[in-house]
Amino acid sequence: MASPRFVVTRRIPDAALELLAAEGEVWLSSHDRPLTRAELHAAAEGASAIVSLLHDRVDEDLLRAAGGGLRCVANVAVGFDNVDVPAATRHGVVVTNTPAVLTEATADLAIGLMLAVTRRLGEGERLVRARTPWSWHMYFLLGAGLQHKTLGLIGLGAIGQATARRARAFGMRVVYADARAASLSVAQELGASRLSTDELLGTADVLSLHCPLTPETHHLIDAAALRRMKPTAYVVNTARGPIVDEAALVAALEDGVIAGAALDVFEHEPDVHPGLLELDNVVVVPHLGSATVETRTAMAELAARNAIAVVGGADPLTAVNAAALQRFPG
Ligand code: DGY
Repeated sequence: MASPRFVVTRRIPDAALELLAAEGEVWLSSHDRPLTRAELHAAAEGASAIVSLLHDRVDEDLLRAAGGGLRCVANVAVGFDNVDVPAATRHGVVVTNTPAVLTEATADLAIGLMLAVTRRLGEGERLVRARTPWSWHMYFLLGAGLQHKTLGLIGLGAIGQATARRARAFGMRVVYADARAASLSVAQELGASRLSTDELLGTADVLSLHCPLTPETHHLIDAAALRRMKPTAYVVNTARGPIVDEAALVAALEDGVIAGAALDVFEHEPDVHPGLLELDNVVVVPHLGSATVETRTAMAELAARNAIAVVGGADPLTAVNAAALQRFPG
């Protein structure tokens, strides 16, 4: 039997490449950038598995370009909105993601952004770096405290829960909106009450987004949603950019509809709405949620293990569409 061909669309940690190399031939992009569509399609031809990153569009065209030997798309991310999962299922291709391993790092960043925006850390840093003269005084760069405030989570999956645990340590009350109610033990541990999205918007002092990007959550936070929020409230987004209508967010921030926003992800990533960059009450960082050495290594290793398992005929560790494939074998 020919050895499997693993196509890796951009550099991933060596530990994961070594796992793949021990099992087959590895094609690794030599570019330090996302592949163009044409490059991606050319690279995918004859692949047994594609190890994709969140900027790669895995759609019908790519699946066709890869050909009938493709068994697995191992996305190195927990989110898989870049993958057309129904199309993959039709082609008999297993799609896997990397849940759990990035939960704590992403929750850390959500809390970091929450602190940065409420305590005006970006403004303070810019001021010092600009060598602007300053002296301590009672009204200098006052922010908002988190203690006794309410954290509203949209989505109480693993990352939402990990964020809630941290917020509790800051003395915050936790409420959440999710299509699924948390188990009793999770709700009790977090002291979290479930609200409708509208109730949550009106209650939260900090709104933190932890839901996947789907057609239902696209622009969930639009002008109307922002108007339901308190004028003293903040939005934190470490999930996916298009959940927020960025133009509406800019308008809301300019008009004082809400107090501030801290964003790790953007609607048209890597582009950022220019209006956000003009505003002092906005913190922006470039999609760093999982960006620790440990987490990125664990994500890549998990993706590699998924790809290896599927091409070897074993069960993937973390499949997105395994159940569908059992019903519609390729
Ligand atoms: C994910 O895994 O979906 C994250 O956005 C990557 O940081």
